[in-house]
Amino acid sequence: MQQLVVASNNPGKILEITSMINDIELLSMADIGFTQEIPEPYDSFEENALAKASAIYSFCNKNTFADDSGLCVEALNGAPGVISAHYSGSRHDGQNLQKVLDELQGIKNRNAFYKAVICLIWDGEVYYFEGICRGAIAQEPAGTGGFGYDPAFIPDGHTDTFGQLQLTVKNAISHRGAAVRKMVDFLQHKIADSAL
Ligand code: IMP
Repeated sequence: MQQLVVASNNPGKILEITSMINDIELLSMADIGFTQEIPEPYDSFEENALAKASAIYSFCNKNTFADDSGLCVEALNGAPGVISAHYSGSRHDGQNLQKVLDELQGIKNRNAFYKAVICLIWDGEVYYFEGICRGAIAQEPAGTGGFGYDPAFIPDGHTDTFGQLQLTVKNAISHRGAAVRKMVDFLQHKIADSAL
C-alpha cells in the first residue's frame, strides 16, 4: 500500500482527514520522528501549506501533504484568515473564538467562510487542492464537536453549528472535506496509472 505523511499536529484536522482516506497508509509526524515546530510565516494559505509539506518532504523524502486552513469573516476584512490558529495571541481555540465573537458584537453581517488549501508533494512534484465552505458566525457558541471555530460556525443550508453537526455531515460539506476529496481523486488516478 502507498504511504503518505500528514504534515500536521492538529488532532481535529487529523481526525477529519483520516476518516476520509482509505487505501493509502497515512503516517503521522510522530511515525517519521519529526518533532520540530514548522514556521508558517506567510500571508497565503498556499505558501504556508507548501512550507509545511516541503519541511516534511525534505526531512523524510516520503510523499507528504499539508493542510493550511482558516476562517475568513467578511465584516473583519477576512480575519482571522491565515492566523486563525493563534488569532488571540495564543493557540487556544476558545480564546480565538471569543475574540471573533467580541469583534462581531453588534455587527449584523455575520457572513464567513472556511478555506483549506492542501499542498501535496508526490514523487517530488507539488500539487494544490482547495476547498471553501460558506456560512455564518452564530451569536453564541453551541456544541462540542469539531475544533477551532466550529461551535460558532453555521454552514449554509443548516441551522446547527459545526460543533453540533456529526463529523460525517461536516466532512460532506466542509472546506477540508472538499480539498481532501479532490486530492484522493487525484491520487487514485496517479496510483492506477503507475500500476499500468
Ligand atoms: P493551521 O494549522 O495554521 O492551518 O491553522 C488552522 C486553524 O484554522 C485552526 O487552528 C482553526 O483555528 C482554524 N480552522 C481551520 N479549519 C477549521 C475547521 O474545520 N474548524 C474549525 N476551525 C478551523
